[in-house]
Amino acid sequence: MSLKTKIAIIGAGPSGLLLGQLLHNRGIENVIVERQSPEYVLGRIRAGVLEQGMVALLHEAGVADRMDREGLVHEGVEFAFDDKRRRIDLKELTGGSTVTVYGQTEITHDLMDARTAAGASSIYQADNVTPHDIDTDHPFLTFDKDGETIRLECDYIAGCDGFHGVSRKSFPKGAITEYERVYPFGWLGVLSDTPPIADELIYANHERGFALCSMRSHTRSRYYVQVAAEESVEQWSDDRFWSELVKRLPQDAAANLVTGPSIEKSIAPLRSFVVEPMQHGRLFLAGDAAHIVPPTGAKGLNLAASDVSSLYELFLAIYERGRTDLIQRYSSTCLRRIWGAERFSWFMTHLLHRFSDNRFDRRIQLADLQYYTSSRAGLKSIAENYVGLPYERLE
Ligand code: APR
Ligand code: PHB
Repeated sequence: MSLKTKIAIIGAGPSGLLLGQLLHNRGIENVIVERQSPEYVLGRIRAGVLEQGMVALLHEAGVADRMDREGLVHEGVEFAFDDKRRRIDLKELTGGSTVTVYGQTEITHDLMDARTAAGASSIYQADNVTPHDIDTDHPFLTFDKDGETIRLECDYIAGCDGFHGVSRKSFPKGAITEYERVYPFGWLGVLSDTPPIADELIYANHERGFALCSMRSHTRSRYYVQVAAEESVEQWSDDRFWSELVKRLPQDAAANLVTGPSIEKSIAPLRSFVVEPMQHGRLFLAGDAAHIVPPTGAKGLNLAASDVSSLYELFLAIYERGRTDLIQRYSSTCLRRIWGAERFSWFMTHLLHRFSDNRFDRRIQLADLQYYTSSRAGLKSIAENYVGLPYERLE
């Protein structure tokens, strides 16, 4: 069987779904091809802190109603070390910017519902998705669905298929350079139906390792502790998790912790990764397909949104004004913001995690924390990055 569309989107994560919805609203036909089932995609528990740029893009896509009702607007964030808590007043330090706490799972849900309501085409459980002829004016995808091989012809392909996707691997060898840093630890995350420990997020540096207190709502909490890369969830009973978390928090915060059974528990490795360039011929990468950040700065999902914003701007310029010349600006425009977020995520990871037993390194880390949480310049630097660097336009 053969199908035809304007934009073939690989992957129904937040990048692919958001791009698809934005394009659909402007009459640019697209088909999303996803390897997994919708239930599987929705089962992944991921990030939850949205920059204002992403919030605005969700509004533009027409999928912001539930986020506006249920999302929690945070005007500050806390750093904890040396048994003390320091608040970073994001709003005051940035001249009015805030972040919104609203889970990626909920965004994915809202985008899937909007796509179904719009009657736009999504093909789930597609195997062996493969881009072809990306160097020509007539690229196409092939994939297997229910035992049949389908050919999807298109004008352009959007590779929104995450870090393990097929898109990046379809670039010719030698056409791309990869930059990577793997950290020797991971984050053990627990989701629980318990009220959050505090009104705002707490990022804690402790000699036993990093801990993060986050939330999804007033009744659902998300907590993390740094663990060695080789550890497995089976080694972590709920009791062991809660008692480790308490040890890493200042006493006055720990006193407010309400524990309960975990409803999800998983370990995520930490990695920094960038591929350059993000476009070859008629194949464009967006989101985790092109870059990974360690979660310490809450930038992964937000970077996916800024890539999508640029790709959407590009496709509008092409279809509404014939501006194919802007194709060559896509990658460099995205990468400037990506490297900014890579730097901040790397910095936050170094500031807050336990890297070694070296006593000198530990004192330097504490001096860094002291500086960044007391100097106005230090506080401003963290705040402006945390709320998100500005989006750059292609023209
Ligand atoms: N064929 C089709 N679909 C694929 C393939 C493939 N070969 N490989 C992966 N996919 C699908 C995955 O199943 C997944 O649903 O692509 C989707 C990619 O989604 P994400 O990994 O969520 O990536 P993205 O949409 O870019 O979202 C941004 O950044 O930091 C993170 O938490 C953040 O997950 C979020 C991501
Ligand atoms: C989360 O709530 O899952 C979360 C919040 C902040 C981060 C990372 C993850 O930096």
